[in-house]
Order: sequence, then C-alpha cells, then structure tokens
Amino acid sequence: MNHWICPSILAADFTRLGDEVRAVLDAGADTIHFDVMDNHYVPNLSIGPLVLSSLRKAGFDAIIDVHLMVKPVDRLIGDFLEAGADYITIHPESTEHLHRSLTQISEGGAKAGIVFNPATPLDVLSEVIDLVDLVLIMSVNPGFGGQSFIPSSLDKLRQARELIDVSGRDIRLQIDGGIKPTNIGDAAAAGADAFVAGTAIFGQNDYAEVISALRTNIAAATDS
Ligand code: DX5
Ligand code: ZN
Repeated sequence: MNHWICPSILAADFTRLGDEVRAVLDAGADTIHFDVMDNHYVPNLSIGPLVLSSLRKAGFDAIIDVHLMVKPVDRLIGDFLEAGADYITIHPESTEHLHRSLTQISEGGAKAGIVFNPATPLDVLSEVIDLVDLVLIMSVNPGFGGQSFIPSSLDKLRQARELIDVSGRDIRLQIDGGIKPTNIGDAAAAGADAFVAGTAIFGQNDYAEVISALRTNIAAATDS
C-alpha cells in the first residue's frame, strides 16, 4: 500500500503560498490538502476557488484534494471543479442531497470524497460507497489547524477500513487533524493510507525532514 502525505496549506505562510506549495512538493508531499472554510458550517474563513485556479495558472499540476467545509456546498462544488480540483471532499451535513452532490463531483470529472466529523456516525457510508473515491475521517472538529488528535478517531478509522475492504473498491482512507510523527503510526495501523498534516509540517523549518519522519513512523507501524 502506498501512503500519501497531504500537507494542509491552511498552515502555510500565505504571503508566500506558491513557494510553500513548491517546497512541500519538493519535500515529497503526495497531494496538497486545500481546506475551504465559510464561517458558517465552521467558525473560520479561509480560501476559495480563486486561490486554487491561481495555483493551477502558476503551473502546479500536483494532486490537489479540496476539503469543503461550507454549507450549502453544491454551488461551490461547480466552482472548484472549474478551478481544477482533483478530489473534492464534502461533509454529509453540508448538503440536503448527498447522493446528488457526490454524483455532481464525479460527473464533473473529479474524484469524490466524503468526510465524517468526530460525532458523525459512518452510517451513510454504505449507502454511497459506490460513489466515493476517498473517505476522510476527521480527528478534530473541523475549523482550525493546530488542534489535538481525538483518540476515538482510531476506532472510526478501523470501521471505515473494514467497510472499504468489504466494498472491494479502490478508495483512499484519509485522516485529518492533529496528525504528527508521534501518532501517525497509530493512524496507519488503524487503516489510514492518506494523512493530512498542517502545523506538523509547516511549523517546522525542514519540510523534507518532517515528511521523512512521518513516513518512517508509518512504515514502522505497518511493516511497509
Ligand atoms: C481542520 C482542517 C485540517 C487542518 C489540519 O478543519 O480540515 O485540514 O488544517 O491541521 P493540523 O494538522 O494542524 O491539525
Ligand atoms: Zn482538512
């Protein structure tokens, strides 16, 4: 299994965003995790489709996984498809019609993700598993970087891993919130294969060093 490291640019220096994105990609990042917050679904405001299209216009062709923390979500799905998102991940609470919203993403040419908050059960996953390419488990309540990892997310990861394996589909299992070298091994052992990290990466001077520490600890926990 190849494991993805997905730096969250929420923790980057926005005055030098292009340089920051280049630096984490050069340091071995697999995707750029793009957190979109609306001050309504979550109590914070971040970046929109204009920033994504600027990165594309600047020539970045890396995988960009967009995590939409906005409500209602449908119109912005269209904007992010147009801006060049590879993955678009949505919260079931942010749409009245989850099946339609996930279909909108895949019909628009992107991979579709579904994300579960710490208090949201995985119930709906079995109803839409045929429509998704990524399942994201939140290990903090969404809205801010730099929060502490909630340990019960490991159980949810194990449940999600089982559902994915039973489905036989090629679905990424991503974890987001409070991930750092000391706990990434636990998340990997619980079945995650994509790891969002914001402050743990951008808070260090040497991005390659921290990404390599993250990978070493994944490998130690999974014998891979
Ligand atoms: C939280 C965001 C996360 C956040 C992660 O709402 O979805 O992606 O940026 O940041 P860290 O790794 O600092 O917890
Ligand atoms: Zn996120």
